[in-house]
Amino acid sequence: MGYPRIRMRRLRSSPIIRDLVRETHLTRDDLIYPLFVCEGRNVRQEISTMPGVCRLSIDQLVREAEECAAAGVKAIILFGIPAEKDESGSSGFRGDGIVQKALRELKTRGLPLMLITDVCLCEYTSHGHCGLVRGHQILNDETVELLVRQAVSHVQAGADMVAPSDMMDFRVRAIREALNKNGFMDTGILSYAVKYASAYYGPFREAAHSAPGFGDRKTYQMDPANSREALKEARQDVIEGADMVMVKPALAYLDIVAMLRRELTVPIAAYNVSGEYSMVKAAAQKGWVDEKAIVLETLLSIKRAGADIIISYHAKDALNWMHEDKKF
Ligand code: PBG
Ligand code: ZN
Repeated sequence: MGYPRIRMRRLRSSPIIRDLVRETHLTRDDLIYPLFVCEGRNVRQEISTMPGVCRLSIDQLVREAEECAAAGVKAIILFGIPAEKDESGSSGFRGDGIVQKALRELKTRGLPLMLITDVCLCEYTSHGHCGLVRGHQILNDETVELLVRQAVSHVQAGADMVAPSDMMDFRVRAIREALNKNGFMDTGILSYAVKYASAYYGPFREAAHSAPGFGDRKTYQMDPANSREALKEARQDVIEGADMVMVKPALAYLDIVAMLRRELTVPIAAYNVSGEYSMVKAAAQKGWVDEKAIVLETLLSIKRAGADIIISYHAKDALNWMHEDKKF
């Protein structure tokens, strides 16, 4: 049974043989890059908790999008940071909202980039919750109506796909029906179907000034202890009309990604979230880890777990590194 019949290391003995037997490949087609757009001109304000990620005014966003397209980014997901926030997040669904204006501007450039938008209230509400608040309750059905308005107005402004991230029940069905009614039958929905109430979103909330003013998101986002519930959420969203489903965060939830890959036929996206990004950046800045190697290994691991698509703040760097390596 032993050597020389068995020698595991034979298939690892040269770069060529390793390339031949490699099971998982990270490719340029797998990555979506998140961008934050804010009001103003010539704004390029680095987010203190996320080195290398900026809040961009529309002029700078356009520049960034052009650079992304040149680096081989195929799709971006847009987050809006409005000038004003109110109880109902009304700046999120106005025709002259920040995301709507950005979409119109990007569309005129005809870049080879798919434009996805995050649909949620928390970036636009004064209280920072993802839904309408009554007392200390986050309302479901009333929130869904506003999410629908936001989604439709994004698509009217040029979004190619909408990604609701609020975790209200039945919002995918409502958004699908509203898009259809408005003639957008061919515009897809990437549902944040399995979104956990996670501490890994901390740096993002600093970026979008969207930390909840009271309480937490545990009455709508999922309990990190649950995995059967993830399958229930994802199946439900597919029934309601989601074209793709997302697991978020990615790294502490790769078991969930793998389970959904086994159980579902729709494409699975995983969101390599802000906290995951910031930890790598912090360690890299201290010289404690090799950033490029860590990032490429991390993205590969998400792919190996079963994700078809990875949303990551590392996407642009990763694409540039992949070009350098020529292996991709
Ligand atoms: C908005 C939204 C959040 C993220 C994506 N969409 C924040 C949250 O739910 O608190 C997190 C992204 C990240 O951490 O990178 N609902
Ligand atoms: Zn939200």
